[in-house]
Amino acid sequence: MPAPLDRLIDALAQTGMTRFFRRLFDDYPDLLMKDQTVEDVGPDRAIKLAGRWVTNFGSDSFLGLDQDERVLAAIERGVRTWGSHNGSSRAFSSIEPNVQAEQQIAQWLGTEAALIYPSVTLANIGALPGLVTRHDVLVADQFAHNSIDEGLKLAKARGVRTAKFAHNDPVALEHTLRELAPYRHAVIAVDGVYSMSGRLPPLDEFRRIADQYNGCLYVDDAHATGVLGQAGRGTVLEALGNYDNTLTVGSLSKGFSCLGGFIAGSRAAIDVLKLRSNSLIFGGPVPPPYLEAIRVVVGILTSDEYPRLRRRLDQNVRRLTEGAKRLGLAVMGGLVPIVSVLVGAEEATLQAGRFLFERGYYVQSVVFPAVPHGAGVLRMQVNANHHPQQIDGLLDALALLPRVVPMPDATAVAAAA
Ligand SMILES: Cc1ncc(COP(=O)(O)O)c(C=O)c1O
Repeated sequence: MPAPLDRLIDALAQTGMTRFFRRLFDDYPDLLMKDQTVEDVGPDRAIKLAGRWVTNFGSDSFLGLDQDERVLAAIERGVRTWGSHNGSSRAFSSIEPNVQAEQQIAQWLGTEAALIYPSVTLANIGALPGLVTRHDVLVADQFAHNSIDEGLKLAKARGVRTAKFAHNDPVALEHTLRELAPYRHAVIAVDGVYSMSGRLPPLDEFRRIADQYNGCLYVDDAHATGVLGQAGRGTVLEALGNYDNTLTVGSLSKGFSCLGGFIAGSRAAIDVLKLRSNSLIFGGPVPPPYLEAIRVVVGILTSDEYPRLRRRLDQNVRRLTEGAKRLGLAVMGGLVPIVSVLVGAEEATLQAGRFLFERGYYVQSVVFPAVPHGAGVLRMQVNANHHPQQIDGLLDALALLPRVVPMPDATAVAAAA
């Protein structure tokens, strides 16, 4: 008789999602590139994958700081000074660079305080349930990031009433809050930018509704951190003019090329989050080398160098977006440095990714469940240190795609977005 663990694993292997993935692996062993290992990294965004050197268009290191000498030196300094890890929850102590990095992030954004978590996921699943009690409600945009959804589930398990409202729709938000009333306070969680569609939420209207309905805004701006807004501060200040009645979440892993996430807001809110975020209290902190690197990146964002870096990034994003549109492809996004081209069926999407790989370009083939079934996309991440010739080369390869797989035209975007 197999052990209960083996029987449990067998039962899990029969669930719909696992069967779906297994079938995908079995049917397309040559096309699926998810499990491939990056064997080496070179200059100019080159990576060696499955024995082949290709240009990497699959990195969230939007500003190209992952190989910046100053960032690397800070990591070395951090490890030499503080060791590889502080080895203690922040509920007990924090090393100085942690506190300094938080002060610098708050200063850069213009908030009273900030709190660093080991990832945005841990920020969302720690802070969202921590911000509400049984007297309050927690609502989120239906397309908000998965980690917000997980935060809702944890809050719900503790007896908090939760709900989703239709994407970017202030009327739906208002309706949802009216239906949930009476409650004490409402927390309204949204993404600061939806990377796949490139859409921004109507933050000003959402905040007006929050104010009116005894709620506050919680904005996960992970994709915009370092790449949108003045000095890379993201979408919130740009849209609202201040941080009143709002908590802003940012990523330290994408544009920053370090590790972690942060929540920024009033001193009082941050002090309460320190006491009520279980992921922070019962988990470890960001390791010292990355804290030193975060401080260096904030320095870059607030320096004269940043506008130049940003111009290079924006030019690269425009070059790829406009080039792909000129090819008649169904282009989505392009507001943040993530440009997606709709392909459609799962197999075709994987085939298209493989085709580009064989021509020297690594892009991500994104299929169900990350996108709706039959609405697979090629996701291309643009970095500030891609050379224009590399983007042109990718566009030349994209131009050949319709010979390999049927590609929908631009009219398909409205239906898929
Ligand atoms: C909006 C948003 N929130 C959270 C995350 C997860 O971030 P992390 O990898 O730091 O957990 C992502 C990652 O893509 C994201 O786009």
